[in-house]
Formats: sequence, C-alpha cells, structure tokens
Amino acid sequence: MLVSTREDAMSNKENGTAGKREERTLEGKAALVTGASRGLGAALAKELARRGAKVVLVARGEDELRAVAAAITASGGEAHALPADVGDKDATYAIAGAAAALVGPIDILVHNASTLGPTPLRLLLDTECEDLGRTLEVNVVGPFRLTKAVAGGMALRGSGLIVHISSDAATNTYPRWGVYAVSKAALDHLSRSWAVELEGTGVRVVSIDPGEMNTKMHADAIPDADPATLADPAEVAAKIAGLVARADGVSNGARLEVSGLGGAS
Ligand SMILES: NC(=O)c1ccc[n+]([C@@H]2O[C@H](COP(=O)([O-])OP(=O)(O)OC[C@H]3O[C@@H](n4cnc5c(N)ncnc54)[C@H](OP(=O)(O)O)[C@@H]3O)[C@@H](O)[C@H]2O)c1
Repeated sequence: MLVSTREDAMSNKENGTAGKREERTLEGKAALVTGASRGLGAALAKELARRGAKVVLVARGEDELRAVAAAITASGGEAHALPADVGDKDATYAIAGAAAALVGPIDILVHNASTLGPTPLRLLLDTECEDLGRTLEVNVVGPFRLTKAVAGGMALRGSGLIVHISSDAATNTYPRWGVYAVSKAALDHLSRSWAVELEGTGVRVVSIDPGEMNTKMHADAIPDADPATLADPAEVAAKIAGLVARADGVSNGARLEVSGLGGAS
C-alpha cells in the first residue's frame, strides 16, 4: 500500500513506530566507536544504531564488547564487535580494515576510548614517565593513527565526521589529574589541527566534552562521588547522536560541551 491511512498513522503513533522511523536519521551510515564496551561508548553505539547506523564497536574486553553488540543486534540494529587496544600501533590498520569490511567505508568515527592513567590519581611528582607515555598512546596517539587510517577515504568521498571525546580537564587544571588532562588538551588541539587541514574536503572534525557521567571511569577517578549528581551516559549519548545526525550544521574544528547541545533530535 503506497498511501498510508489515518488508521496506520494512529496505530504507528500508538506503538511508537512513527517516532522511531523519524529518528532513523543515520540510516545506512557506517560508524566506528572506540571504547564501546561500557559507559558513554556503549550508550553511543546503541544510540547510533537505533538511528539506523551500522556500528563497529572497539574495546579490549571481548566479553563485555560482544554483549553490547549482541544487545544492539537483538533490538534490530547492526553492530559488530572488534576487540582491540587503540593504544596498540599494530591494531590500527586491522581495526580500520576490518571495520570497512564489516560495514563499508566509515562515515562517523568516534574516538571515545580513554584511560585515566594509574588510579588512584596521583601527583605529577609521583607519576612514572612511562605512565604518561602510555596515557598519551591510548588517548592521543591511538586516535591520531586511527584518523590517519580513515580520514583519507572520507576526504576522497567528500564527507565524514570525526568526533573526539574530550573532558573539562582539557581546559581546567586539577591536582592529580595532570596526566589525563594533558592528554585531553592534546586531543582537543589534535582535533582542531585535523579540522584546519581537512577544511574544504567535506570532513568535519570536532571535540565534545561530555560532562561528568556515572561510569566506571568516574568511579575509578572519584570513588566517593554521589552517582545521583552525575549524568546518565545514555542521556549524554542521545545528545551526541543528535549532533552527529545534524553534522552538516556542525562547525568544523569546534569544541562543544554536551551541556550546550540542547535536546537530542
Ligand atoms: N565519565 C565521566 O565523567 C567523563 C567526564 C569527561 C570525559 N569523559 C570521557 O568520556 C569517554 C568515555 O568515558 P567513560 O566514562 O564512559 O569511561 P568507561 O566507562 O571507563 O569506558 C571506557 C571505555 O574505553 C575502553 N578502553 C579503555 N582503554 C582502551 C584501549 N586502550 N583500547 C580500546 N578501548 C579502551 C574501555 O573498555 P576496555 O577497558 O575493555 O578496553 C571502555 O569500553 C572518555 O573519553 C572519557 O575520557 C568521561
């Protein structure tokens, strides 16, 4: 039937399918989300898939990662688990190649995986140089390598969105947060640097500060925080996915805060 009836519309409204169809703004897009086995990354993978994107999920913990991918598949989405360490140089092209083989050329790349460095967080004077190095490897060099592997193809196709998940630690200084903060400040500037170099190609690059969320990372950093004061990563993910869906209106090189993104759409 080509023309839907009022009854169809009403029954769609009742069972929610009309709303869901309207929200499938990322239908057919291929997305790669790192750190997708829990917290914000898992929530974002679910949200992108709910909007119709084919999603590849990356993290080290295979069981947790496969469980998130299975949950997405069970709810009708397309998701593929790709266990890997983003701080491992040798994994870069394996991730990019396998992702493209699974879902096609990547349209949306989200650098969400991150480490705090050693916890409990410690003063810089008590920090081993190797710990700073490892944190930079995961939080900055890994995203750099993965973007290198993906952005050329995006530029050739004339479109793409690269999102770096940042933190307020990138712009504020807190005692004991130095290692993580340095990595996030570098990630922000890496984002802006990619943006100016890719300007005019159709590829947009942004960084987003998600704000404080109730996740394992937050609990590892501030164990005595009251979870009731922290955002639900699912709500943050909905706002970020809304931004991804409106990518054409996103200013290349912007640093955005989720608190300023407004509602998901
Ligand atoms: N939570 C907050 O309040 C907050 C505030 C500001 C910014 N952020 C940022 O938000 C993002 C998500 O954080 P979250 O709170 O959701 O953290 P989370 O719950 O600890 O999740 C981190 C994810 O990254 C993965 N990961 C860590 N190291 C990895 C590596 N080397 N290779 C591949 N995957 C790796 C983890 O899985 P595996 O351990 O299994 O690999 C997990 O899936 C991060 O970029 C974080 O810096 C969080």
